[in-house]
Amino acid sequence: ISPPNLVEKSSHAVGSLAGSVVLPCHFSKLMFSTSTPHTWTDDEQLRIKWTKLEAEGEKVVLVSQAGVVKIGSAFLNRVVVKKRPLSDGDASLTMLGLRASDAGLYRCEVMLGMEDAQDTVRLNVTGVVFHYRSNVSRYSMDFLEAVAACQQAGANIATPEQLTAAFEDGLDQCDAGWLLDQTVRYPITRPRPGCAGDLLSRPGVRTYGTRPLTEKYDVYCFVDKLHGEVFYPPSIGEKLTLQQAREECEKHDSVLASPGHLFAAWRAGLNRCDYGWLSDGSVRYPITVPKPQCGGGLLGVRTLYKYENLTGFPEPSERHGAFCFKALKTCQSTAASFHKIEM
Ligand SMILES: *[C@@H]1O[C@H](CO)[C@@H](O)[C@H](O)[C@H]1NC(C)=O
Ligand SMILES: *[C@@H]1O[C@H](CO)[C@@H](O)[C@H](O)[C@H]1NC(C)=O
Ligand SMILES: *[C@@H]1O[C@H](CO)[C@@H](O)[C@H](O)[C@H]1NC(C)=O
Repeated sequence: ISPPNLVEKSSHAVGSLAGSVVLPCHFSKLMFSTSTPHTWTDDEQLRIKWTKLEAEGEKVVLVSQAGVVKIGSAFLNRVVVKKRPLSDGDASLTMLGLRASDAGLYRCEVMLGMEDAQDTVRLNVTGVVFHYRSNVSRYSMDFLEAVAACQQAGANIATPEQLTAAFEDGLDQCDAGWLLDQTVRYPITRPRPGCAGDLLSRPGVRTYGTRPLTEKYDVYCFVDKLHGEVFYPPSIGEKLTLQQAREECEKHDSVLASPGHLFAAWRAGLNRCDYGWLSDGSVRYPITVPKPQCGGGLLGVRTLYKYENLTGFPEPSERHGAFCFKALKTCQSTAASFHKIEM
């Protein structure tokens, strides 16, 4: 049997949380034509199998043959292949409602009779949903203030689909927050007294439905991938006030990171066990490597509140570290610097 002969080799796909993506798998018709003659209209014998390759083992995503499609439980209602893949030479998988946990390595196998070809595709999923509370108090923002708060935090107000995807990835937050469609909801993966909402003891996203825009809640924000770098300045010895933190970032040709920057950096793997100032005057740190002495062994971005009831930001005179953000140089500025050099 000739070696696997797929058109695209080790491809890469990137999708955004709650969005859709195509995992490419194009097989060459020639691959099957040499040893065994086939009629190309005959999709019946063609078998397509998509598998997710995980450290714990392989997980079947989808198997399709002769119009019969079987889908793995984690992917129900979220994956589809073409009805007539053979005529197009296309066994690509379309995946909807992306979750962060969908990221990883996938294998596409195409089988026709005794012949078999396979390829792998790596999928990345960008974007993160985070709960945002104003510096004033819990439940202090009407809808327009909530929209503005997410923008000030370097993000956008989240959609219900994004919150649902975040819930599927394990987000648990017992605080009602505005969403883009003017509903108020919160995600609970570990049901407990006080967080029952309309789902009682079942896990799920609780909803208050559409609310009058003047009612006040927290908000859920969404930030996609980071266009730059977040860092904790290595030179910080003594801790800094908010103003000093701003100046420290300027020394590094950067600015204080927004909460959106920090959450996006956390999602991309930033791990730092030191509280640092952010541009909105909040103080937080990102944990991606669980350690008992760091955030109690939990993963996520920790926020330092002023009061025990988890409200209020620290006083600007308090001393902490800093998270700085340096934007990626755009093409335009590269062109500009070329121009300078030529002169
Ligand atoms: C995908 O994620 C991996 C691991 O997080 C990273 O190294 C790689 O650069 C990412 N690729 C793309 C195209 O975003
Ligand atoms: C909250 O932040 C706003 C603007 O960012 C500021 O004007 C206001 O004084 C802050 N309120 C408190 C209680 O810190
Ligand atoms: C939280 O605690 C502070 C200080 O004790 C108090 O002023 C504030 O009203 C409390 N907020 C809520 C929402 O309970």
